[in-house]
Amino acid sequence: MVTKSQKALFTAVKIGAFDLKHRIVLPALSRLRAHWPSANPSDLMRDYYSQRASEGGLLIAEATAIAPEARPYHAAPGIYSEEHVARWKQITDAVHAKGGLILLQLNHAGRSTSTAIGQVTPVTASVNESFLEDETIVVTTPDGLVRPSAHRALETDEVAGVVEQFRVAAANAQRAGFDGIELLAGQGHLIEQFLQNGSNKRTDVYGGPIENRVRFLVEIIEAVSTVWGSDRVGVRLSPSSTFNGMGDSDPRALFRHVAERLNDLDIAYLHVIEPRISGADTVDEEQDAVAASELGKVFQGPIIAAGGFTPATAEDAVASGLAKLIAIGRHFTSNPDLPHRIENDLALAHYDRSTFYGGDGHGYTNFPTYAESREAEQQPA
Ligand SMILES: Cc1cc2nc3c(=O)[nH]c(=O)nc-3n(C[C@H](O)[C@H](O)[C@H](O)COP(=O)(O)O)c2cc1C
Repeated sequence: MVTKSQKALFTAVKIGAFDLKHRIVLPALSRLRAHWPSANPSDLMRDYYSQRASEGGLLIAEATAIAPEARPYHAAPGIYSEEHVARWKQITDAVHAKGGLILLQLNHAGRSTSTAIGQVTPVTASVNESFLEDETIVVTTPDGLVRPSAHRALETDEVAGVVEQFRVAAANAQRAGFDGIELLAGQGHLIEQFLQNGSNKRTDVYGGPIENRVRFLVEIIEAVSTVWGSDRVGVRLSPSSTFNGMGDSDPRALFRHVAERLNDLDIAYLHVIEPRISGADTVDEEQDAVAASELGKVFQGPIIAAGGFTPATAEDAVASGLAKLIAIGRHFTSNPDLPHRIENDLALAHYDRSTFYGGDGHGYTNFPTYAESREAEQQPA
């Protein structure tokens, strides 16, 4: 057994501009507790992130819409209004007060939304009827789950406008006190809709060969790096996932190329969701799927790996050099003091899937720390 002081997970590391004291990251988790329809972050969200902050620990705040039409679900937060900036500032202040770091995951849903959320026809790389026919793909709205609305392809001369929305959102995130940003280039949202040729049939400079399909992501990285400096920009990929109707004829070639291209851009890190995960669920691992270990051989910067890690496998992954940091999602929902528990080999509380998405503080901010749970156990009944 690895003792506390020997754990690779608890050695300090510098990732881009971020000085971290341990290697356990809270990945973006959309918990759908923002206000609707304003997309304002809530006070509950402030409490939730503050509870999960730790000295020198990295939190990545949930997928946050760069524009009203970019929202993927009802009750997801935004970063496109002054009110959003002010409310996120309360959250980043609370995290910083505990010595933690917090990045914002910037997102545009693309086709993976409904007019009930974004109010306008969703935009994407190219029109894809089979996406609309797939009954497994749903969008959370105030009136329950609905199928995504019919979408349209972005005109070539509209693409720069979306890149600019990312830049403005990055500047808003900076004013809101974040330490940097992560671009969601996976999970079947807009950036990934451009990357993969199952969803990108364009014939302009943003479609066709891999070099063209990667262009949208590269332009966004360049734009947000003018705000932050590339050492405060991370990129998240889910190369093996078919969530939200994704697919590519040669994912290995595509994602190896993306990783190589990212080398030139000198970003803070590449965050890879492992093959055993699809969206927010554990699945049987596909043989031969593109994993962090493979992309880590191409990408020269730090890797964050996510997906199905336990304290023991996280330790192995860092000790073996598979990744510099490990993101642990579902266990962090029910263990606000997750790094402390892992460092001290304390038992983890089970997560509650039924409260993942939406609702109040129940199943969100009411999970006790280990010390609090022991105290409660010792109270006379
Ligand atoms: C409730 C929930 C919401 C999620 N929301 C996001 C999100 O907003 N952005 C994202 O990139 N991934 C999201 N994910 C995926 C997680 O970041 C993570 O990759 C996944 O849960 C696998 O890690 P785990 O096995 O440690 O939970 C979500 C997962 C869950 C369970």
